[in-house]
Amino acid sequence: MDDKSSKDKKQTDQPRAENAKQQQLDHFRIRDTGNPLTTKQNLKVSNDSETLKAGVRGPQLTEDFYFQEKMGHFNREEIPERVVHARGYGAYGEFECYQSMSHVTEAGFLQEAGKKTPTIVRFSTVQGPKGSYDTARDLRCKGVKFYTEEGNYDLTTIAMPVLIIQDPMKFPDVMHAYQNKQDEGIPTATGAHDRFWDFVASNPESIHMVTWIMSDRGVLRSYREMESWSINTYIFMNDQGKGTFVRFVWKPVDGVHSLLNDEALKIGGLDPDYHRRDLRLSIDLGYYPEYELGVQMLEMEDEFKFDFDILDPAKFWPEELIPVQKIGKLTLNRNVDNEFAELEQVAFNPANVVPGIGFSNDPVLQGRLFAYRDTQHHRLGSANHDELPVNRPLCPFHNNTRRGFMRHRIDVDQINYRNNSLAGNTPYVTPPEEGGYKEYPKRVEGHVIRGRSPSFNDFFTQPRIFWNSLTPVEKQHTIEAFSFQLGKVKTESVRQKNVDLLVNVDREMASIIADNIGVRRPSGDNVPVSTSYPSLSQANTPKYARMQKVGVLIGDGFNDQEVNDVLNELRRNQTVIRIISQTLGTVTGSGGTKLRVDETFLTSSPYLMDTLYVVGGTSKTQDRFNANIADYIRVAYTHYKPIGVASTGQSYIQPSPGNNLAGVVFANNNPNFARDFVAAITQQRFWDRT
Ligand code: HEM
Repeated sequence: MDDKSSKDKKQTDQPRAENAKQQQLDHFRIRDTGNPLTTKQNLKVSNDSETLKAGVRGPQLTEDFYFQEKMGHFNREEIPERVVHARGYGAYGEFECYQSMSHVTEAGFLQEAGKKTPTIVRFSTVQGPKGSYDTARDLRCKGVKFYTEEGNYDLTTIAMPVLIIQDPMKFPDVMHAYQNKQDEGIPTATGAHDRFWDFVASNPESIHMVTWIMSDRGVLRSYREMESWSINTYIFMNDQGKGTFVRFVWKPVDGVHSLLNDEALKIGGLDPDYHRRDLRLSIDLGYYPEYELGVQMLEMEDEFKFDFDILDPAKFWPEELIPVQKIGKLTLNRNVDNEFAELEQVAFNPANVVPGIGFSNDPVLQGRLFAYRDTQHHRLGSANHDELPVNRPLCPFHNNTRRGFMRHRIDVDQINYRNNSLAGNTPYVTPPEEGGYKEYPKRVEGHVIRGRSPSFNDFFTQPRIFWNSLTPVEKQHTIEAFSFQLGKVKTESVRQKNVDLLVNVDREMASIIADNIGVRRPSGDNVPVSTSYPSLSQANTPKYARMQKVGVLIGDGFNDQEVNDVLNELRRNQTVIRIISQTLGTVTGSGGTKLRVDETFLTSSPYLMDTLYVVGGTSKTQDRFNANIADYIRVAYTHYKPIGVASTGQSYIQPSPGNNLAGVVFANNNPNFARDFVAAITQQRFWDRT
């Protein structure tokens, strides 16, 4: 193989799922490397550096068509960012069905165990613009496009099971209040401001989702560890026409884990791309993020069986009452090549369904069925955005739409209307028995009215249940987050109104927050509800060492055998090892082993590591080296992270009456150190640490 082709081969050799969608996308993947530079008309360019002038010191000529093409294209490189969810990232994956769901739905991708469907996924925050930071406290969302054999099915979910509003009419209002102020353009990616909290205090239905956002769920550590719910109620339909209410939930195999508020804020500056970096890295390493798809199903006749309205998007369906059945697994296994082409241009839409899936009367879902396509016409600039490579279905589609901006297809038929006789009345409609989509024949009754169902009016029982279900540590974090956010609200009456609202959820919580933010303790009491559900606390989800980032703090003169054994054990457990030292280059053990340094104390940060392995050693600038290690340990220790201490690192961390060293594992006199350290990494946080 010659040099040029082997280079080309290497560049295309990223891990890739071989499936029908990837094969389709391959037709659009273009490689310029190794080719002559040309204009868009394939004219070979001989000078790409200078404009065409009348004499080298003279004015530019209008004849310079190459400059006009190059500059003109650059001038048009941006498209409007999403009006919400502008900040996001994603990857390709594959969904595998666990078992046939044909008894409840006709959806083709859910008909047989083992059936695989290609997907693309985009995760996002809601509030901030495209250039904001990943770890902002916010609701995180996940759009999944299933490229099924019957057409595209889009499942949109949020990392909380409830929405901040109950009617789509309020969506522009809540977003106006949440996003930046028109005079300042501030804030960027934060909800800690007067307008948002004024909205919350003035719209009591919002307190439920806001309590979730203030909990650890609002500062997720990674997209890999994100649980997310459809919130809206959909309808499954089987081939007998029977309907079943359904809500969807994605359960991350890695469990649900969060940052601390302090970490989320600091990481926002240290590495604004923290989540996308983690996602890309995990796929590059082959530690593929996995999520099981769960469904909660409800017979039509059970619609009124609960003390909440199952169509209310501000209420969750407790798993303990309506069990989650896991029906498949999504594995993300391929990074995108081009963020713009594949993730900026991707367009999710809850209206993209396949036969067997339909919509309930959930008012928010009804409003969403209009919102997405409408905004995408504007954002992507054309009614033809379904033809973009990432959006086009696997199967050909046929209809009588024509023309519009950026039409890709060349429609050759002359008959583009129905009914017709000249083309045999084709494209023809397909009866439901033969696969044509049919709406579920929901029963409707009542008078035309602009209103909200009184059955949506219990605003406090479920937030109270959520609060009751949190562990003491999760409650503490929630109180701190409320105090942080409301503490930044300048208008005292808004702060007061919020604690007066929060008292309905928990009196003690509201009183502590009132003290923290300098307002009167509320006079009322919380709703008298003592129910709690284990499924609502993320503390009850699994924990693994996989993908935990281990910062190895190391200088020269380390114990080769000891360090190699530990690093091997860490690799075996699929952790991500970062060798951190005073300078880049290598560090050398006492036996001559050389380790390449990945980061310096300056370029990395203890905030970016999930755990530390303190090896210590010698350095040309010993005092600075020691001070940096001490600093890393101080931050990791106060954030409850596991710390492993090598026999050469003992002097950096000593027991004292003030600290109990919970989660600190020492190598001295411990033949099982590597195993114990991995066990501590798996535990992730030591909340009992003093
Ligand atoms: C009235 C309620 C809602 C309205 C009006 C609304 C509207 C929108 C709009 C306009 C976009 C931008 C779409 C684009 O530019 O491509 C969007 C994105 C999105 N929405 Fe909603 N939304 C609502 C509620 C929800 C709910 C309940 C969920 C899920 C449970 C959800 C999930 C998403 C997701 C995942 C995206 C991001 C898509 C992406 O990454 O491209 N939304 N929404």
